[in-house]
Amino acid sequence: MTNRWTPVEVDATTAGPDFWTRYHAYRRLRHAETRPDDPIRPDRVIEDGMKRNDPFEIHYRYEISNGGKMLSWFTAEATRPGAPGYDTNKHLLWTEGSVHRDHRRRGIGRSWIPIVLEIMDRHSYTTVGIECEEESGHAFLKWIGAEAKLTGAENRLKLADVDWAVMRRWVEEGRKGSPDTKFESYDGRLPESMLEDYAPQISSMLNTIPFEDLDHGEIVETPAMIKEWFARMDMSGEAGHWMMTREPDGVISGITDMYYAPYSPTIVHQGFTGVRPDARGRGLGKWLKAAMAIHLHELYPNAEWFTTDNAGSNAPMLAINAKMGFKTYRVGSEYQITRDRLAARLQELAGAF
Ligand SMILES: CC(C)(COP(=O)(O)OP(=O)(O)OC[C@H]1O[C@@H](n2cnc3c(N)ncnc32)[C@H](O)[C@@H]1OP(=O)(O)O)[C@@H](O)C(=O)NCCC(=O)NCCS
Repeated sequence: MTNRWTPVEVDATTAGPDFWTRYHAYRRLRHAETRPDDPIRPDRVIEDGMKRNDPFEIHYRYEISNGGKMLSWFTAEATRPGAPGYDTNKHLLWTEGSVHRDHRRRGIGRSWIPIVLEIMDRHSYTTVGIECEEESGHAFLKWIGAEAKLTGAENRLKLADVDWAVMRRWVEEGRKGSPDTKFESYDGRLPESMLEDYAPQISSMLNTIPFEDLDHGEIVETPAMIKEWFARMDMSGEAGHWMMTREPDGVISGITDMYYAPYSPTIVHQGFTGVRPDARGRGLGKWLKAAMAIHLHELYPNAEWFTTDNAGSNAPMLAINAKMGFKTYRVGSEYQITRDRLAARLQELAGAF
């Protein structure tokens, strides 16, 4: 297969102003294509985040540009050797990519295949995951031979439509149904002194998320990882909000967290909501979600929407969200293909040209 497109690796720490100019122009173009009504992250926030050393993940970044214009952007990430969770995640590479809308169907997308294989061979990754929520992406990934392994959606709640009386009732019912359960709420950051206790408990809850057929490793959160994440939030001025229920023995039985960014005053992001399997069916999930909604509605009067990502198979979470009024905003899938199948596809394509 001949190809006139040459992906060039980008090192964000040394990239010059020309790179950032074309990168941000490309980012704006993609934003206008995918989420035109949403606020866009400021350039400074993006640059600071990309330049900051990540002790836990390796990031690979490539551009295809021509005449000072970016035509394609491709990123991949993987767990750093020795980082928490490395043993069960070391075979996995996660990627995202796109091509400028005026330059599609000219072979730019396929020019990533050798790059992906080279990265996989160099680091012994055996499976690559690719995120996709656009029609062109689904068609391209099927053409490559990747399979959709996890289907989910971004769901959004319009706050003007929320029935606040119902929310207050959920809080009341939750409290009455679990009188011995302690309710905790934290705004801004979680106190550092609680991270040792919190990290293993949140990790075990995160690992109850349904991942359908996705090849995935264990999710591990440690106090150091949470502190690194908070340092990144400090850089962008984001505030976190956590609510949790704690049983008399100290076990966190349920949790919900949300994130507010000053550059996105109208849309507030829902992070994770989880209730331990042994505490399900007591109304803790509804209590947490309703209490958080009431709290943030008061705290951020300019907020119009809550947004959250859910797996399509997460029936309990989807049921609560639907009752609150969340509606599907965008459906997406995580595709995967093994290194060997991708290499075979490249061979096949080479033979066809
Ligand atoms: C997906 C995407 C990256 C493909 O880039 P591209 O440069 O157009 O891809 P290529 O030209 O190399 O296409 C390779 C083959 O994929 C298939 N394909 C790609 N786009 C397609 C589309 N819109 N409809 C049907 N088939 C398509 C075709 O078989 C194509 O070969 P052909 O043009 O010879 O028929 C691009 O459409 C894009 O940026 N989409 C939005 C972002 C996205 O969805 N990313 C996630 C998936 S990587």
